[in-house]
Amino acid sequence: MIVLGVETSCDETGLAVLALDFPVGAGVGDEYRPPQARLLAQALHSQVDLHRLYGGVVPELASRDHLLRLMPLLEGVLREAGRDLHDLGLIGVTQGPGLAGALLVGCSFAYGLAAALDCPVVPVHHLEGHLLSPLFGVDSLTFPFVALLVSGGHTQLLRADKVGEYQLLGETIDDAAGEAFDKTAQLLGLGYPGGPEVARLAESGQVGRFSLPRPLLGRPTLDLSFAGLKTAVLTQVRKAGGTADLSAVDRADIAAEAQQAIVDVLVAKSIAALKETGVKSLVVAGGVSANQLLRQSLDKEASKLNASVYYPPLNLCTDNGVMIAWAAGLRAAQGDCGSPAGAFSVRPRWPLSERQLPAPLA
Ligand code: KG4
Ligand code: ZN
Repeated sequence: MIVLGVETSCDETGLAVLALDFPVGAGVGDEYRPPQARLLAQALHSQVDLHRLYGGVVPELASRDHLLRLMPLLEGVLREAGRDLHDLGLIGVTQGPGLAGALLVGCSFAYGLAAALDCPVVPVHHLEGHLLSPLFGVDSLTFPFVALLVSGGHTQLLRADKVGEYQLLGETIDDAAGEAFDKTAQLLGLGYPGGPEVARLAESGQVGRFSLPRPLLGRPTLDLSFAGLKTAVLTQVRKAGGTADLSAVDRADIAAEAQQAIVDVLVAKSIAALKETGVKSLVVAGGVSANQLLRQSLDKEASKLNASVYYPPLNLCTDNGVMIAWAAGLRAAQGDCGSPAGAFSVRPRWPLSERQLPAPLA
């Protein structure tokens, strides 16, 4: 079956075409076996240049840009995959969470296409897309696993027992980890998005010269908190002269300490989640999972528990259409064959716990 994935929840227009080599519903009642899938084509348009001027995503500009990009990207992926519209057997589209306008553009596009082609649609939860992406093309990873989801809008620890069966173990009580990176970058006068910029600058910085807190570290909870860190960075930046007058050395040292503080908290909570559940696999996904210090630290600490850590390939860490097509395909393999195109809604706020099997009809 050929699956089209459509992602427009924030500032990336992502499309992908996958070929799935398993019959729909084959996974129902059976022990979970990783299905076979081949990536035929993918295309991604990042709006980073569009929003950079404003230091963050401008929702209305995001929606308008998705609208401009979707058709040419679709034509491109179909051409590259050597398929045409009528080959599509399933469309997966991000239904939420995300920016309402951006989601509406993607869903209108996907449901319109599905109506024209008489093809079912699986509405995909964006975080489930991230969560399942490390399973793509990896035979060694099976359920159950603990997932650390770290994106610009979310930071959660979950236990995944099968596709569609997730238990929330802990989550941020305020800012997301990606947000902490982005706000630190802003305070340091760096560009948007902040995570990669802070990480790059931190390479030449010294950890510990500035002191930043590790919120909720050592407390008996799997919840996380990053708002206090942002305030502490602001205080240190002011002490060192303010954003505009920071020396290059201070800038790099604050970046290094901020990155270390975020990573320390994420690692400690992930390891605590592995210990608490007794699970031996940790999946890390979402934009922040691209962070190299986070990867090295998690690998080191998890190995002490004989646990393995799985990451998506670097090009699938941030938002993309492949993870949406893949999540839709995995849902279909579990018997969630989607719904015929018809009325749809978007879910800008959508707890993952509400996206369990069987799927609600759109
Ligand atoms: O998952 P994602 O692409 O979009 C959301 O769903 O939010 O995540 C974007 C976030 C941004 O906050 C960005 O600064 C962060 O991921 N990010 C990173 C790195 N690459 C992206 N944070 C730290 N280190 C990185 N290398
Ligand atoms: Zn994301």
